[in-house]
Amino acid sequence: MSETLANLSSETRQFPPPEQLAADANVKADAYDEAAADRLAFWAKQAERLTWAKKWEQILDWSNPPFAKWFVGGELNIAYNCVDRHVEAGRGDKVAIHWEGEPGDTRTITYAELLKLVSQAANTLTDLGIGAGDRVAIYMPMIPEAAVAMLACARIGATHSVVFGGFSVDALATRIKDADAKLVITADGGYRRGKPSALKPTVDEAVAQSPSIENVLVVRRTGQEVAWTGKDKWWHETVEQASPEHKAQAFDSEHPLFILYTSGTTGKPKGILHTTGGYLTQTSYTHNAVFDLKPETDVYWCTADIGWVTGHSYIVYGPLSNGATQVMYEGTPDTPGRDRFWQIVDKYKVSLLYTAPTLIRTMMKWGDDIPAGYDLSSLRVLGSVGEPINPEAWMWYRENIGRNRTPIVDTWWQTETGAVMISPLPGVTATKPGSAMTALPGITADVVDDQAQSVPNGGGGFLVLRDPWPSMLRTIWGDDKRFIDTYWSRFGAGAGSSDEGWIYFAGDGAKKDDDGAIWLLGRVDDVMLVSGHNISTTEVESALVSHPSVAEAAVVGATDPTTGQAIVAFVIPRGNVDTSGDAGEQLNVDLRNHVAKTLGPIAKPRQIMLVPELPKTRSGKIMRRLLKDVAEHRSLGDVTTLQDSAVMDLISAGMKTTK
Ligand code: WT7
Repeated sequence: MSETLANLSSETRQFPPPEQLAADANVKADAYDEAAADRLAFWAKQAERLTWAKKWEQILDWSNPPFAKWFVGGELNIAYNCVDRHVEAGRGDKVAIHWEGEPGDTRTITYAELLKLVSQAANTLTDLGIGAGDRVAIYMPMIPEAAVAMLACARIGATHSVVFGGFSVDALATRIKDADAKLVITADGGYRRGKPSALKPTVDEAVAQSPSIENVLVVRRTGQEVAWTGKDKWWHETVEQASPEHKAQAFDSEHPLFILYTSGTTGKPKGILHTTGGYLTQTSYTHNAVFDLKPETDVYWCTADIGWVTGHSYIVYGPLSNGATQVMYEGTPDTPGRDRFWQIVDKYKVSLLYTAPTLIRTMMKWGDDIPAGYDLSSLRVLGSVGEPINPEAWMWYRENIGRNRTPIVDTWWQTETGAVMISPLPGVTATKPGSAMTALPGITADVVDDQAQSVPNGGGGFLVLRDPWPSMLRTIWGDDKRFIDTYWSRFGAGAGSSDEGWIYFAGDGAKKDDDGAIWLLGRVDDVMLVSGHNISTTEVESALVSHPSVAEAAVVGATDPTTGQAIVAFVIPRGNVDTSGDAGEQLNVDLRNHVAKTLGPIAKPRQIMLVPELPKTRSGKIMRRLLKDVAEHRSLGDVTTLQDSAVMDLISAGMKTTK
């Protein structure tokens, strides 16, 4: 970026925490002061939340930056912390997981039952020759065995690599190879959109290309016909027959816990490596602080898939280390009907809900009357993660789901950060719709210009993290150089400009408002340069979504002979909006004027396309790169991570007819 971001929108609405929630909150305002006074002491105190077999000698070793070691010399077992200790404390009968299958079948798993399953799985993995340090690939539907498999790996010190169950043979095989995995844990299939969706055939093909794999452990979920090879073992014939006795051994605080691959925009996927003590400390602390979890009374539900970092940190490790009771749902939000989420909230009396802006905008499109039909009074805190949440989607969430009562926590973080970094605290922060607000206690986030100088309030630039944090990635698996190049070389020491002050470059654009609150503006690769001004896709999208006829919008900068780049917007109208003929053309004109009025004439889109869907990755992020291909009339680039490839045909066809 040649110039820092133009700071266009100004949102003035603000919502203080509900009084009672503030009074009873787990974390109060003094946490910020405490952490600011002594950041390392603050994190050491949070590490005391866990049970350590051996206490650490040093809180942080940053003598070889950017390779951090946290709680050096300490030893603990993650599975013991997530399961055994709750049972030992007499909470074995407490429900750990209320599991809801897509077809409506259910399972209730207590902490005592979870201990049995994890112990049995740990014994089976050991029998299959898996030991500490070995890598295990997990390719599963959203069934309890997915969490059990992860915890069993952690229990014996094996490093898991969960691959999202929707990924292709190629994606799975590449990840198995990169990590040199010895075992795959999978299932025959899972239920999606009302029918069984097979997983095993993908595994069979990937394993055929993967000589490192010695065994494949298969859970029977759907009962689909499966091909069987010499490497395959049924879960119910091994794990469920194994001894439920297993003594967890402690591992070093820096023992590798998992690898999780992020695709990024270019190049081969990066294997993000997370380790043990620091990771569990920060996931446990943030889950308690950001959701104000009261383990005795709350029912927590995170709608993410276990294949993403949100599932790792906020379905498995954070909530279970805190002894939470949670809901886990197998399927899609529209099966059998578009009310499935609200039916689940009502049925289990969910009090803490964590979901993504893409889902919130989809629910907006489906209409207010759907959630209105349910009792959502159990909800206490609502969370959002994955993308910037547009102010109007935030307001919709607050009004239609939170019924104007519950705080919203917009949590910014990444696969690389391991845990939430920037977020309101529900009992402390007066929130602003669309802002993730400020860094959590113990975290140093900043917005800087090209020269790594902190921008003043009101300015925009790049989001960076200045100090190491406990759950930070330790490296990219097998590629320290890429780790340094990607995250630490843009600013500061990694770039060779000074000896100290290593600065982590997150890759996101951001601005600080007049109060210093942080507004995320999307990936810097997506920022548009229009007539010399850097303009954020997020702000233009939010302006579009603030129009009553719009449910969702995606904006790209397309090459333009006069302005350098011009803004092209793809807009999904709300369900009830007439877009035929003249009405559609009028809407188009209105929307362009609406953006000009909201953000200024510089942000007025050159062109708006009304479309039925947007191209998204399987984790729900809009693939602007593909829309840019369409806007610039190019053939489409790599579409392998696209959720539904038919979407692009629809959009491209529409684009041709308007030109
Ligand atoms: C990128 C990381 C963190 C778990 C899910 C995504 C975007 C994430 C927010 C938010 C604005 C957000 C950023 C970030 N992002 N949360 N609350 N507001 N943007 O993990 O796939 O590693 O993606 O997601 O661009 O860099 P991920």
